[in-house]
Amino acid sequence: MNDLLNKIQKNTSTSPVKLSSHHLLSIEGMDKLEIQSLIDRADFFANLDKHSDTKFLQGYVVLNVFFENSTRTRVSFELAARRLGAEVINISLINSSIKKGESLLDTASTLNAMKPDLLIVRHPHSGAPILFANYLNCSIINAGDGRHEHPTQALLDALTIKRRIGYLEGLKISICGDIANSRVARSNIHLLTIMGAEVRCVAPPTLMPSGLEKLGVKCFYNMKEGIKNSDVVMLLRLQNERMSGTENPSEREYFKFFGLDETKLSLANSNAVIMHPGPMNRGVEIASALADDTNRSLIKTQVEMGVAVRMSIIEALNYTKHQI
Ligand code: NCD
Repeated sequence: MNDLLNKIQKNTSTSPVKLSSHHLLSIEGMDKLEIQSLIDRADFFANLDKHSDTKFLQGYVVLNVFFENSTRTRVSFELAARRLGAEVINISLINSSIKKGESLLDTASTLNAMKPDLLIVRHPHSGAPILFANYLNCSIINAGDGRHEHPTQALLDALTIKRRIGYLEGLKISICGDIANSRVARSNIHLLTIMGAEVRCVAPPTLMPSGLEKLGVKCFYNMKEGIKNSDVVMLLRLQNERMSGTENPSEREYFKFFGLDETKLSLANSNAVIMHPGPMNRGVEIASALADDTNRSLIKTQVEMGVAVRMSIIEALNYTKHQI
């Protein structure tokens, strides 16, 4: 079985990946081979010079539709699609259709009439990309929906770890901070457990959702215990915009107990790496010097890997659509 897996993985790194769906809505429901193949193909793209000819998708039309603010995710998708030769149109609907009262279904049908090949959607409500997938003819990528999932972030995080450490299976990975409001945490929990890592969630009780153990993770309310012997410490932003008010901790107090500093990091493995999906609040979830410590911090690599991972996903969705 392992031989077969290796063979398939070798092939997929130099050819497009076929998935079981022409949408990418969540990591939940994907299998190990699909994830591994996307990471391997992205690794191949990451090793190419940026001027290499990867324009396989000429004439392919991508709508980058963002109902929430974004810098790195939106730009990264745009670069990925352009490197594949696609045409990209950015549509910011933060202040537009929603405020004018248009229903999501009407927005979906308007976008459908433009006949895109792919719609990349970020939305403040969980499930919005699923609704688009049900009503549009094109492929849909979830670029973050409410507190639900952010599948491309988890895939780029996995590629970043793979390139630094070489593998995911058996690694101890501590995800620390505002787990309750984080779609990044949820996608990473699914991906890392599917790939055989040992996942720990570290948060104050008000920011730890119930039922996480059912997903195969261990929960810690004390950061020093939660990052002990970890290989990877992944930090999350306090997502105040998704909090109802009562759970907002004071930033100073939060840093004292859940911010990563040298003292807490010294409890992790001596070569443990630090990750953060951004945007990051220095002095709140991470000490500024640690964020900039290029020996330990993979934060810039995460941004870099975003383009390669999104190239591999866009290519895979197009390939899959034409194979079904
Ligand atoms: C994250 C998001 O939007 O969910 N950012 C990102 O995509 N890089 C995390 C966050 O906003 O804190």
